[in-house]
Amino acid sequence: MTDKLPNMKPYEEEVKEFSWDLSKEELNYKDGDTINIGEYCTDRICKLGKADKTALIWEGHSAEVKRYTFDDMRVLTNTIAKFLQDLKINAGDRVCLFMDKVPELYFGVLGILKMGGIAQPLFSAFGGESLLTRLDDAQTSAIFTQKKHVAKVRKILNDLPSLKHIIIVDDDGSKPLREREIAFNMEKAEKVENFDVYPSKAETPSILHYTSGTTGKPKGAQHVHYSLISQYITTKYVLDLKDDDIYWCTADPGWVTGTSYGIIGPWANGVTQCVSDSGFTAENWYKFIEKHKITVWYSAPTAIRALMKDGTETVKKHDLSSLRHLCSVGEPLNAEAVIWSEEAFGLPFHDTYWQTETGSMVINNYPGMKIKPGSMGKPFPGMTATIVDLKTYEPLDKQGTVGMIALKPGWPAMMRTYWNNKKAYDSKFVNGWYLSGDRSSIDEDGYYWFVGRDDDVINTAGHLVGPFEIESALLEHNAIAESAVVGKPDPVNMEVVKAFIALNPGYEPSKMLELEIMNFVRKKLSALAMPQEIEFVDSLPKTRSGKIMRRVLRAKEWGEEIGDISTLENDL
Ligand code: WTA
Repeated sequence: MTDKLPNMKPYEEEVKEFSWDLSKEELNYKDGDTINIGEYCTDRICKLGKADKTALIWEGHSAEVKRYTFDDMRVLTNTIAKFLQDLKINAGDRVCLFMDKVPELYFGVLGILKMGGIAQPLFSAFGGESLLTRLDDAQTSAIFTQKKHVAKVRKILNDLPSLKHIIIVDDDGSKPLREREIAFNMEKAEKVENFDVYPSKAETPSILHYTSGTTGKPKGAQHVHYSLISQYITTKYVLDLKDDDIYWCTADPGWVTGTSYGIIGPWANGVTQCVSDSGFTAENWYKFIEKHKITVWYSAPTAIRALMKDGTETVKKHDLSSLRHLCSVGEPLNAEAVIWSEEAFGLPFHDTYWQTETGSMVINNYPGMKIKPGSMGKPFPGMTATIVDLKTYEPLDKQGTVGMIALKPGWPAMMRTYWNNKKAYDSKFVNGWYLSGDRSSIDEDGYYWFVGRDDDVINTAGHLVGPFEIESALLEHNAIAESAVVGKPDPVNMEVVKAFIALNPGYEPSKMLELEIMNFVRKKLSALAMPQEIEFVDSLPKTRSGKIMRRVLRAKEWGEEIGDISTLENDL
């Protein structure tokens, strides 16, 4: 039976006593020691006597199940690390993972870290152009992929001279390999029992996660091995993971949640986790929980809203009594979803707020703390958060005022730079605060209430999509003269992409053209970036300096006041 008391002390008490040293002590880490996340998640757990404990229960599309112990994982990650070394991949080289949620993706991340490489996970749903931008920026040396995705890599190869190896993890020899391709079967490869793990230090780069901004190309938030100190303890305190838990994080490791809390946090805590590589339906998800007796579940508002839409009838058909703690991240979790989950599962979803850049949870609802449905909760003990004025960036002390969430730098998992873009990184820090770019207010009890982003980035189904990337792709279409892309409200995905398009002379708006443009973006970028709606316009609203005013178009979609356009014009 699981201990009834949460791992974390009551919030106020924990805030007074907490120090990151607590996490370091539990991890037996002292400043200056080597610290390798790959080793911490595998070898160390085996040494703690859990070698035979299940680390991963994986289920594929046709409900086939694979199980791996911590010792299996230790040996398989060694095997991957050695394979990369044999390919002459060096410490510090970027190695991309471009795969569905197969075991090779999870063990690949840890294997790369074990040999000192920088893991660069990217969504397998990305189209060629999304992939190219990110591989080119990182000057990636090798990419792990599957047969089904290799065609997308082949198409962009000529533009990627630095990409030396394309490692196909499920090659069956039926077709000849092409230029730079190599087959690697993790299960059949000769097992590497002992491997000299790279002696990384606190500041050694670990993972590169690309995230979209309003302008420019996506930015690579670069993390370090020391992030473990934050990820370990937030997993223990916020997700409340205990030794006998069966944990399910629904996020893909192409997204920071899928690495911080779908790889590092749970395994550094020695906890069994489940991964489902089959698609989303309410029925599938409940079956998965029931079959594997999942106890702790970390998901996202879009999924919860979709479950809500499906109704409680499906819930009742399953025995979900194993569940004991639920958390959510990625978008605002509306109060109705929290109330519905209490009704449906007898448990509320605990909202957590953080970012690719923060590397670990920031503002959360803790087990045992009173939840105010609709609020993100309170800052993690050991972190200093506030809201600052949107113009001066000075801290605001008035309750209820809307400002920007700002954090005192220095927590272990904070990104260390944006890859190749120190300027953008530096611009995130003002007056000694890290600026999140999110607007929120704080109530009289210290709870944070999310208001919105302070930029034009679109949050669709919890995934950030940069308007600039989509507009650039649109411009490559012959028919398009100019475009502006904004988020439009959506009951399930919170926002979907809407494109306003002005056509070149000689082109007429039509349903056919609309579909063609949608498909064009889907192939180049991804299904999430594809506009769900296109509005053809004669021209776009612009500032005097010629910048497109997305804000005006967005306000129209949301039925909001257009706001102070004159300021916007003067600002630009
Ligand atoms: C948004 C995800 C409201 C926010 C881990 C943030 C949220 C961005 C919440 C980061 C939440 C994340 N409530 N909004 N609980 N959690 N967001 O980098 O705008 O993919 O800045 O990291 O998602 O998204 P990212």
